[in-house]
Amino acid sequence: VRNLYLARHGQTEYNVMDRIGGDSSLTELGHRQASCLGEYLKNYDINYVFTSKKRRSKQTAQYVVDQMENCTVIPLPEFDEINAGVCEDMMYSEIKEKYPEIARDRSYDKYGYIYPEGEGYVTLKERVDRGLKKALFLSGNAERVLIVGHQAINRMILSHFLFRRQEDVPYILVPQNSLFHIISTQQKKLFELVKFMD
Ligand code: F6P
Repeated sequence: VRNLYLARHGQTEYNVMDRIGGDSSLTELGHRQASCLGEYLKNYDINYVFTSKKRRSKQTAQYVVDQMENCTVIPLPEFDEINAGVCEDMMYSEIKEKYPEIARDRSYDKYGYIYPEGEGYVTLKERVDRGLKKALFLSGNAERVLIVGHQAINRMILSHFLFRRQEDVPYILVPQNSLFHIISTQQKKLFELVKFMD
């Protein structure tokens, strides 16, 4: 892969409610964001699009695929969002109320914290690396590849290419109106953050 584009899915019903996890759909704004992503990428010939198995990721990717003549979509479970275990589907404020110790412990060490019955950034790393390897293998020497991921997933993918201190990774900003364009060769790494919608 010469050019890797990394986008997050558009806004979802859960994003609006500040709920985490789940499998909700894009909102009207989310559809517009996805449509602008497709509009921007239509100038580039994307050969492969990798999504997670979640609805929001597939819905977003569809807007890009619709702009392409010849593009293969491959959903990978490795790119599913972090599993928040007992906190799945909850609002951050509900977690604080119901499981104050989870909210507290996670805020002390967000990278190392593992949700009960779920995952943490520290355990996500292995899964995301596996997904990346798979994606890079499946897309072979394709010129342009897009991954439509999630907040925590995209943070991990970015940190794979761009050195970040571990404790900073869970705080990398992953906006829903911008994409990262990464060119990575043996000699150089180039990063571009493109805002495709206001
Ligand atoms: O809120 C959206 C979301 O993708 C959740 O599904 C996920 O639990 C969360 O972001 C991850 O971000 P953070 O690690 O900052 O809670």
